Amino acid sequence: MRIVHYTSSRARVISSRALDFSAAREGGKWSCISAFCLCALMLLPALASPSPQDIERKIDALISRMTLEEKLGQLQQLDGDANGEYRSEHLELARKGLLGSTLNVRGAKRTNELQRAALESRLKIPILFGFDVIHGYRTVFPVPLAEAASWDPDAVERAESVAAAEAAASGVRWTFAPMVDIARDPRWGRIVEGSGEDPYLGSAMARARVIGFQGRDYSSPNKLLACAKHWVGYGASEGGRDYNTTDISERRLREIYFPPFKAALDAGAGTLMSAFNDLNGVPTSANSFTLTRVLRDEWKFDGFVVSDYESIKELVNHGVAADEADAARAALSAGVDMEMVSRLYGKYAPGLLREGKLAERTIDDAVRRILRIKFRLGLFERPYVDESREQAAIMSATNIETAREVAARSIVLLKNERDVLPISKDVRSIAVIGPLADDQLDMLGSWSGDGRREDAVTLLAGIRAKLTPSTKINLAKACSLALNGDSSDAASIGEAVRAARDSDVTVITLGESADMTGEAAARASLDLPGRQLELVKAVIATGKPTVVVLMNGRPLTINWLADNAPAILETWFLGSQAGNAIADVLFGDINPGGKLPVTFPRSVGQIPLYYDHENTGRPADPNNKYTSKYLDSPVTPLFPFGYGISYTKFELTNLHVSSQTIKRDGSVRVGVDVENIGKRAGDEVVQLYIRHIAASVTRPVRELKGFQRVALKPGEKHHLEFALTSEQLGFYNSDMRFVVEPGDFKVFAGTSSIGGLEAGFRVIE
Ligand code: BGC
Repeated sequence: MRIVHYTSSRARVISSRALDFSAAREGGKWSCISAFCLCALMLLPALASPSPQDIERKIDALISRMTLEEKLGQLQQLDGDANGEYRSEHLELARKGLLGSTLNVRGAKRTNELQRAALESRLKIPILFGFDVIHGYRTVFPVPLAEAASWDPDAVERAESVAAAEAAASGVRWTFAPMVDIARDPRWGRIVEGSGEDPYLGSAMARARVIGFQGRDYSSPNKLLACAKHWVGYGASEGGRDYNTTDISERRLREIYFPPFKAALDAGAGTLMSAFNDLNGVPTSANSFTLTRVLRDEWKFDGFVVSDYESIKELVNHGVAADEADAARAALSAGVDMEMVSRLYGKYAPGLLREGKLAERTIDDAVRRILRIKFRLGLFERPYVDESREQAAIMSATNIETAREVAARSIVLLKNERDVLPISKDVRSIAVIGPLADDQLDMLGSWSGDGRREDAVTLLAGIRAKLTPSTKINLAKACSLALNGDSSDAASIGEAVRAARDSDVTVITLGESADMTGEAAARASLDLPGRQLELVKAVIATGKPTVVVLMNGRPLTINWLADNAPAILETWFLGSQAGNAIADVLFGDINPGGKLPVTFPRSVGQIPLYYDHENTGRPADPNNKYTSKYLDSPVTPLFPFGYGISYTKFELTNLHVSSQTIKRDGSVRVGVDVENIGKRAGDEVVQLYIRHIAASVTRPVRELKGFQRVALKPGEKHHLEFALTSEQLGFYNSDMRFVVEPGDFKVFAGTSSIGGLEAGFRVIE
């Protein structure tokens, strides 16, 4: 979507790249020259890289000289130790030219050592070093779900660009990110790794992440090759159980699950990872519909696909391969080019070739795609990393500052009665309570790269740094986070109550430990683990002003808190700078402006619960029993998608559609004014939704089609414009053709997925 801004403070919402150049433009001749030099510098790696034709010629030459064993070596990825070391076997394989890639091996010196071995091999094909740089390398940023809550793609791009620079300085050239799985089931632990439930927001985040990691040219020494994962549908695992089966209609695949991958590829992502799940009867690591028909034939993707960890071997467990050889055949023929960790390609491909079950052409195609990306990465020209740069590139002051800024932008204010927040810095005493209040490790969240516990700022430390020694801080860790609680909890809850009684205000952290989300971390209950609810009830019963700081990687069922806690801040897991960022918001140095990227249900029984559902023939009606609802629960969420409040108030007015009718291939502009009518500066995320009233197939009650996060001073008003193009108005019809059908559309402009201003237009033939 094209974003047009008509206000003086547009610099706040345009991208940082645009800012660099506009600054140069305004500075006259010398700035023009420096801008030119800057452009030339940025283009240098691209100019130095061979042309696409050269690359294909070089690949032809290499493939013609490769033995079958060497080809299969390129298709193999092996894992190093979690601490970044390689194994002696890797050195041996590398010297023989039989190791295409590693995962986890990192550190400038180590990667150079292993690379040197590869370059001693007959054909000198460099190794591609991969690692899960998911939300930061050493400087850890908010977990991806939190970053999505910023609704700020520019901020997310900045975060990934820091992550890329740090990881690249450490010898890593490929990240297994972004994870772009749409997830509508918060029981699934991996919901924390993605951008939530919505394909439009998910696509915006996918794009931002790929550009942050790769830049415009991933051969630059401070960039990483991106890998969009997990292709595809993994987020729909039945029952939220990790690795579980998925059954998704082709329309849902094309409209909900594919778009963030397409956005990642359009942004230039060079690789994809196949997934663990069975999709409509064919596991995604052997699914030729998704891997070949959609990816290669329809989308013309010419990068490569890596399997997920042993997902090829697991085809035997799925029951679509009779044995390991059959699994290798199925995955390779379907279009999985590189095998992560299991070693079936290398072991069985020669036999499969002899038996005529696999064509040599299939292997050559996979090798070609991998070599193509290695060439594009500039690995042949620059196989080594500069060891002298590693130290300075990692955890620099600017990187830490960016982490703090992005973390604060990811916080969502869910409730703030009687303006309990922000807390005055002159407060005489403050109780800091809860199992996560002084916890470093959990702040990093799951998949925290090379992050270190000792680098993380806890909430207690963040609060301390804001206050003078004259404020008394009463700390009480209180109960444990263990799912079933701990025997010492009762006594500790008593201490917490005393701390609250002795203080003017209480900040209580509640939530999950970091390892309760992420891979293999499904939960059947979304309640606060252990005795935390008991703890918070006792603390709030003291009658002291209490702020709940949630730390968690998924929506939780927090009905009691929503009804009884005066203030609730959703802070997810915010990374190395968590404590500082939360303190920035608690004490009002930053006004929270994040919005939920995923619906918070009232109970597990409501799942799946997402805003863009279809209407049904009997939409829920409280006065009519025979409608789509529950006997024992409302159908509405506890907090809807897109929701989040602020220390100030905003008002939307003047929703205006540029034309009442448009042609099928036309577009329409939607304008709306947003004004800060409160007393503090703050950010609002204005969201644009549409609804197609009647089409040849049922359409969602609302679909997000645009958003802008704007910063406004008190009394300031912005006019925002959104463009709705035919691409945004279309859908997949019964023949799976993407069409724009004539009919009436509603447009909603709001500050969450519920309510807002309404207008309409008609699409005509
Ligand atoms: C995960 C992937 C990850 C890979 C390598 C797998 O278990 O599913 O997301 O990239 O491990 O660490």
